[in-house]
Amino acid sequence: MSIMQRNELLQRLLADADLVTEALSARFSLVNSQGEGICPPVLKEAQDYSLMAGGKRIRPALVIEVCKMLGGDVKDALPLACAIEMIHTYSLIHDDLPCMDNDDLRRGKPTSHKAFGEATAILAGDGLLTDAFLLAASNPRAEVVQRAVRVLSQAAGSMGMVGGQVMDLEGETRRLSLDELLQLHAQKTGALICAAVQLGAIAAGEAEDSPAWKALTTYANRIGLAFQVVDDVLDVTADAALLGKSKGKDKAVNKTTFLTYYTVEEAQAYADRLTDEAVSAVASIDHEGYLQALAEYLAKRIY
Ligand code: IPE
Ligand code: IPE
Ligand code: MG
Ligand code: MG
Ligand code: MG
Repeated sequence: MSIMQRNELLQRLLADADLVTEALSARFSLVNSQGEGICPPVLKEAQDYSLMAGGKRIRPALVIEVCKMLGGDVKDALPLACAIEMIHTYSLIHDDLPCMDNDDLRRGKPTSHKAFGEATAILAGDGLLTDAFLLAASNPRAEVVQRAVRVLSQAAGSMGMVGGQVMDLEGETRRLSLDELLQLHAQKTGALICAAVQLGAIAAGEAEDSPAWKALTTYANRIGLAFQVVDDVLDVTADAALLGKSKGKDKAVNKTTFLTYYTVEEAQAYADRLTDEAVSAVASIDHEGYLQALAEYLAKRIY
């Protein structure tokens, strides 16, 4: 297996991010809307404000690259890539609300509720979540739609990200056990990352019992958990200007995070171990070394 050089990975991430940004700006014309409704300008403005604020676009990149790796067509991956980024962005808008993490800064800009008020921020998130399913439903193959909707809703819903967010808030009022923390990280962050990889496979028509599907799912579970472990570390160690969101928030509210149980060095070593496991799981299908390069880049990221 070759290892993709860091420069090539970064180029690929930028190219995929450009594709996704372009498709997101055309999101309302990507679907065959049969209704006569309109999206009020202030709602579109609030959604675009967060969508176009320069997120890393890791989840949509995974959809696109996994689809290509498995021989699929990027045009089938793109609406699903947009859908997962829209759900991720909605989760951030709601995560920042005063009743949740109460954050003022996101992606280097004032948070949605600071810029537009709470009601519009909540509705911008509601719209992004719901419109994501309109995009997922746009594939002409009924089987792709059915599988994509199931994967997206399971990952985003009560047994996925939303459930994880509830556990996360509980972790501010009592100290969660390490097992509970693992479960919460897997749901609040791992689930959408896992869905990204699976959506790429679905766009390529990969069966769910295939060795590639299983290998990719293991990979995504490991990098998904590592992603949140590193997020917890960055809350303490990051350069605030680079991070684009406020630092030290977890500690300020006494949230149970990986740093409740581990030192920064131990948590980073854990993320590195998960990354090695992720890379081994996909060794036989990662011919270009993209998945390896991405996993290693995410484990060492600085924002
Ligand atoms: C931040 O996600 C929230 C977590 C799930 C840890 P990202 O770090 O992917 O945020 P953006 O999309 O780049 O802003
Ligand atoms: C967010 O976790 C996970 C989501 C589902 C949005 P965090 O609350 O740690 O994310 P940041 O640090 O605010 O980006
Ligand atoms: Mg949070
Ligand atoms: Mg937060
Ligand atoms: Mg965080």
